[in-house]
Amino acid sequence: MPHSKPSSRLVAAGRHFDRPIATVNLPLTRASSVLFESLAQAEAEGAAAIAGELHRTTYATSGTPTTFALMDALAEVEGAGHACRAAVMPSGLAAISVPLLAYCKSGDHVLMSDSVYGPARSFATTMLARYGVTTEFFDPLIGAGIEALLRPETRIVYLESPGSYTFEIQDVPAICAVARAHGVLTMIDNAWASPVFARPFDWGVDISLLPLTKYWGGHADLLMGAAIVREEHWLPLWQAIRQMGICVGGDDAFMVLRGLRTADVRMRRHEATALEVARWLQGREEVAQVLHPALPTHPQHALFKRDFQGSSGLFSFELKSASPAQLAALCERRRYFRIGYSWGGFESLIMPAKLGSIRSIRPWTGGPLVRLHCGLEDAADLIDDLQEGLQAMKSA
Ligand SMILES: Cc1ncc(COP(=O)(O)O)c(C=O)c1O
Repeated sequence: MPHSKPSSRLVAAGRHFDRPIATVNLPLTRASSVLFESLAQAEAEGAAAIAGELHRTTYATSGTPTTFALMDALAEVEGAGHACRAAVMPSGLAAISVPLLAYCKSGDHVLMSDSVYGPARSFATTMLARYGVTTEFFDPLIGAGIEALLRPETRIVYLESPGSYTFEIQDVPAICAVARAHGVLTMIDNAWASPVFARPFDWGVDISLLPLTKYWGGHADLLMGAAIVREEHWLPLWQAIRQMGICVGGDDAFMVLRGLRTADVRMRRHEATALEVARWLQGREEVAQVLHPALPTHPQHALFKRDFQGSSGLFSFELKSASPAQLAALCERRRYFRIGYSWGGFESLIMPAKLGSIRSIRPWTGGPLVRLHCGLEDAADLIDDLQEGLQAMKSA
């Protein structure tokens, strides 16, 4: 635009969309406004987006090429072999709360495993309750016995396997079979195993939730979550997402796409390191038990072997005893295990469990419980770090 005034030139300069150059990764789209060639095209895109068609958008809250690419990848990987679609949300917790809101209405009943991630539980008992949805917690080991808890108004059975902090493995296929026979939706938080090691749609679930913040991002530098759903359940979720303005930015979506390319190798390294650390902890006199589903001593190890292809970097161990000062001495000033709540990044983390308010059906009655996330450091260094921690604990 040779005759443009300086301010117009600032707006138009460099926006040439007709020079494709092939690169390994898709170009990153940062956008709010989406442009159209005609009013008719704008209208057609709007109607298609409302109808839930893929890759149709009038505004970046509905999607951009970068967020659509991530949605496609998630549906392809998590939903492999099944007709699924994926929606992305700004955190793992949003990927729990938004689908619960999307599928429930006042008067509905939700069955939730007692061992779910604490904030999922508190969302159900506070916000969902305010909208007239009742949540009942059940023993994660209930299996097909879930049938006895179903009511005519039961809408969702919400699962997480293994459970947060206590690592119970649920008989998900048995629960899904019962729920399906009664027309009840099943939802699972698949954070721990990720699609590398678990295939929830093969188990029969309807909705799988992935906190992408964890292994998919993998670098502790972003927050995002996804709900992957069977095709037939897509529309209510998509409508809720659009009505509530739930969306993610292109930069973060690009980073998750980047993280997923290496998720498989990272997960296998997390797995090997965590198993080495877990086995070492099993031999320590201070440790009462190690809660890691891939260890033969785990009470549901047979279910784990039947349903999972591997294990991740996260597990807990129970101490025979430790005062608060001794727990602090174990966790503080470690070289590699830093104190932090999240997990799934390249770094190792340590956090004592506080289960008091987040269990009602299977209260924790054992000794102090400590959760570890084993990162990508060398296993020998992590073991040395814990050895020093256990020594500091004894001296405290
Ligand atoms: C099992 C589980 N699900 C979901 C989440 C929530 O993910 P985000 O931190 O992205 O909100 C977490 C976070 O720690 C988690 O541990």
